[in-house]
Amino acid sequence: RKDNKTKKDRQLDHFRVDDKGKKLTTNQGLKISNDQFSLKAGERGPTLMEDFHFREKMTHFDHERIPERVVHARGFAAHGEFELYESMQPFTRAKFLQDVSLKTPVFVRFSTVVGSRGSADTVRDVRGFATKFYTDEGNFDLVGNNIPVFFIQDGIKFPDMVHAIKPEPHNEIPQASSAHDTFWDFVANNQETAHMVMWLMSDRAIPRSFRMMEGFGVHTFRFVNEQGKAFFVKFHWKPTLGNHSLIWDEAHELAGRDPDFHRRDLWEAIENGYYPEFELGVQIINEDDEFAFDFDILDATKIWPEEDVPVKIIGKMTLNRNVDNVFAETEQVAFHPGHVVPGIDFTNDPLLQARLFSYTDTQLIRLGGPNFHEIPINKPVCPFHNNQRDGFHRQTINVGKVSYHKNSLAGNTPSEASVAEGGYQHYQEKVEGRKVQARSESFTDHFSQATLFWNSMSDTEKKHILDAFLFELGKVKSKSIRQQVVDMFAHVDLDLAVAIAEGIGVKPPQTGGSNITKASPALSQI
Ligand code: HEM
Repeated sequence: RKDNKTKKDRQLDHFRVDDKGKKLTTNQGLKISNDQFSLKAGERGPTLMEDFHFREKMTHFDHERIPERVVHARGFAAHGEFELYESMQPFTRAKFLQDVSLKTPVFVRFSTVVGSRGSADTVRDVRGFATKFYTDEGNFDLVGNNIPVFFIQDGIKFPDMVHAIKPEPHNEIPQASSAHDTFWDFVANNQETAHMVMWLMSDRAIPRSFRMMEGFGVHTFRFVNEQGKAFFVKFHWKPTLGNHSLIWDEAHELAGRDPDFHRRDLWEAIENGYYPEFELGVQIINEDDEFAFDFDILDATKIWPEEDVPVKIIGKMTLNRNVDNVFAETEQVAFHPGHVVPGIDFTNDPLLQARLFSYTDTQLIRLGGPNFHEIPINKPVCPFHNNQRDGFHRQTINVGKVSYHKNSLAGNTPSEASVAEGGYQHYQEKVEGRKVQARSESFTDHFSQATLFWNSMSDTEKKHILDAFLFELGKVKSKSIRQQVVDMFAHVDLDLAVAIAEGIGVKPPQTGGSNITKASPALSQI
């Protein structure tokens, strides 16, 4: 890998510092002659304020921590490359998806969602799968998960969902587990969670290795081709090693014996040359077919069944280099679903729309101000020019006196690029309607796909799902919440709900009821 450096590797080389064999200095470059004893007034006297080396050393240490991510705090990352098998030119003008001779550097961070930075790797949880493609047209971030659907449909509920799933605030118990009252209370009272909870109770939520799990963009994105024609697209990562899960007892034992199991596995595989590979797949729907399905294709609690919309494999990503420094790279990387390149655009999925606001907002505080795009791991490999200036930790020294557009003093630079020159143009989707706080009728079907998921499981997988419900729900103290959850999952499968009820001591439901709930107002009701 050393001889075969990507553009990103070469860029990062400029920032690498090797202290080996060097003399210790202060931050100002002054050589230090004594790093063992602070300066004192007399051999047994107090430490003197004028000891600048002591003060500098201690002050820096006192400020070493930054806030952990509000979600996905625990993660591990690696560098690699993406190669394209087949041009996507008919669908998108994104250059890195058109030219099969191009190799695009990538940086991937895998994570758990709920636990803090020091929590165990093998807990039952969703896994984050975030990829930064350093393309020649700017960074494209595919910020996905290892489960293809999500708990909620509208981002306005995300803070509620995370408050419910994180450790309870009065005692911070339990860490990184879905076995608590607030989580299940949220589930029962926000029944769009049903499909995702089925995945969460399945073995998908206890992967054997980051190398052996799928990744999903979850949302419906848009491809736009050179002619301005648009397509709906969903992204998939498929591990060439296949999908493998732990069994629950293994996951438990590993959490105790080796809480770093997943990061160790990834690190060692790469160190030993067993480079993890993931193929990139896309599902594409023509714009004209937006309403051809019995669900809303912009609803993040629904998958597009692969029998109806096959996954087309278009390329492969290989992770072949470990980071040099976890803080500098893994912790300081800033992913954002809004980092797109020409040819890739958003849809009106209300979960995606909320995410477009949230990531920069949180990173402004997590990474200490508005210049975090200048941190080495976040810098694009293509040049970037803007009229921004100042802010904490500004690194660039922009010359000249003009930092506004338009101007005549500096020949109007930097100036806008035309679309032909690679300028980003938002897809000109036609939008009309009244301002409403609602969503289309099909968003209220919370159970059909959850039932399909359950029905697609083998008997062993079903048993694992039932065991997971018994374990997690069995820890819920409130009998009312247990009952509400059991009644809710009767809409998914009556036998499953009865078996859970019997296992956790609540009343078995008699009927499954309708597959449709009216948890949120439909357009027609307004
Ligand atoms: C991380 C918000 C839904 C995947 C984060 C972070 C925030 C956030 C604030 C921390 C970012 C940072 O500190 O750098 C939201 C909101 C959502 C949402 C508001 C819904 C409205 C999703 C969904 C997915 C997802 C649906 C998967 C498709 C991730 C991943 C990370 C993350 C993978 C970790 C990125 C990393 O490794 O640095 N999210 N999220 N999130 N989110 Fe979301």
